[in-house]
Amino acid sequence: MTTGIEKISFYTPRYMLPLEDLAAARGADYNKYRVGIGQEIMAVAPPDEDIVTMAASAALPLESYFTSIDTVFFATESSIDQSKAAGLFVHGLLGLPKRCRVIELKQACYSATLALRIATQMVSANPKTRALVLASDIARYELGSPAEPTQGAGAVAILVSNKPHILTLDPETGIYAEDVMDFWRPNYREEAVVEGKTSTRIYLHALQNTWKHYQEQSDRSLDRFDHCCFHTPFTNMARKAYQLLQKQQSKHTGTDKTEKTFEEQVAPSLHYNRLTGNTYSASLYECLACLLDQNDLELDQKKISFFSYGSGCTAEFFSGTISPGYKEHLFTKQHQALLQDRTALTVRQYEDVFQLSVPRDGWDHQFGEYRTGPFRFSGVSGHKRIYTKT
Ligand code: CAA
Repeated sequence: MTTGIEKISFYTPRYMLPLEDLAAARGADYNKYRVGIGQEIMAVAPPDEDIVTMAASAALPLESYFTSIDTVFFATESSIDQSKAAGLFVHGLLGLPKRCRVIELKQACYSATLALRIATQMVSANPKTRALVLASDIARYELGSPAEPTQGAGAVAILVSNKPHILTLDPETGIYAEDVMDFWRPNYREEAVVEGKTSTRIYLHALQNTWKHYQEQSDRSLDRFDHCCFHTPFTNMARKAYQLLQKQQSKHTGTDKTEKTFEEQVAPSLHYNRLTGNTYSASLYECLACLLDQNDLELDQKKISFFSYGSGCTAEFFSGTISPGYKEHLFTKQHQALLQDRTALTVRQYEDVFQLSVPRDGWDHQFGEYRTGPFRFSGVSGHKRIYTKT
């Protein structure tokens, strides 16, 4: 009996900032953002949108399966509470079954990957049930910092069941962990602290180690994969990652060239990221959704590799096979409509939104109404966050 991904749905907020405008405001060459970093637009979450509303919006298209869900994993590094799992707010908004377990997982951008693995095993043990894996994040760095153009926001909802219409995972998996300080967010800060260059170096170091571990279990070479999805903090990071794997492969085979190219193996998964920015825990799975949504690709039975990286750091290299007939189970039109129908902010408006933070005084606060998805973070009262349906 196989288990795996039955559905995958992506959501991103209704506002965005063109990076050409940000470059002009910061006195930077736009080509540094567009070519050097590989980003064009960043998604901006308005004050009444947060990880809960984004995750609930990502999950809503899966409504017809809600009664069979018995576990919700919520992966995030933009946590809104030190105690309560954000998934419980989603559980309430979506009216999920009361016979359910809900948990939040944190390890930078990695946690959705472990959630997916645990979910697969839980469903294998009890095939009548489904598990919902949510990954939702808002990437925030300091205004004017080198990391600012890599910000973004978005969520992915993944339904795991014994009807894997989208993807099944292979058993082989390469793992790596090391206690390093490349990127972190102390509890008292709303913006991440990042050692930018160190983080890219450690990302690649973790990739090299997970790939080595994966190869000890599998004889698949890089060319054996039809497509490769990477955790993508910015699209040129995926290019650097792929180049590293090409080098490893060349060393292994003693030839200078690999049979396939970045354009074939990686580029089709990167379009969404280029238009949303980093979605942290959702980023790798946003890349998968993007790859699946490419109308000109026929992915039945194709082999896909995945590299999941969470700063701090934990990483995993794994693979899977796309199911025959997967195209019948996608939300391509909704994803593309979301990306096309967004309101562009000016840099001034973006900065104003950025500087608004959730009041901490316990009084009643109603937030102004912005464009959101089907749910709003409408205010706080008595230190409780209030969510409403739009
Ligand atoms: N035209 C074209 N290219 C240009 C250019 C121009 N005018 N000016 C610069 N470039 C190129 C540079 O040559 C460089 O290319 P390479 O990396 O290929 O050498 C690229 O643009 C970036 O330029 P810099 O290295 O000068 O950029 P920077 O130091 O100002 O910032 C960064 C880059 C360090 C990645 C920064 O954006 C950052 O800190 N980002 C956040 C951290 C991050 O995303 N790390 C990734 C690994 S950690 C992770 O993956 C977890 C996570 O999600 C955060």
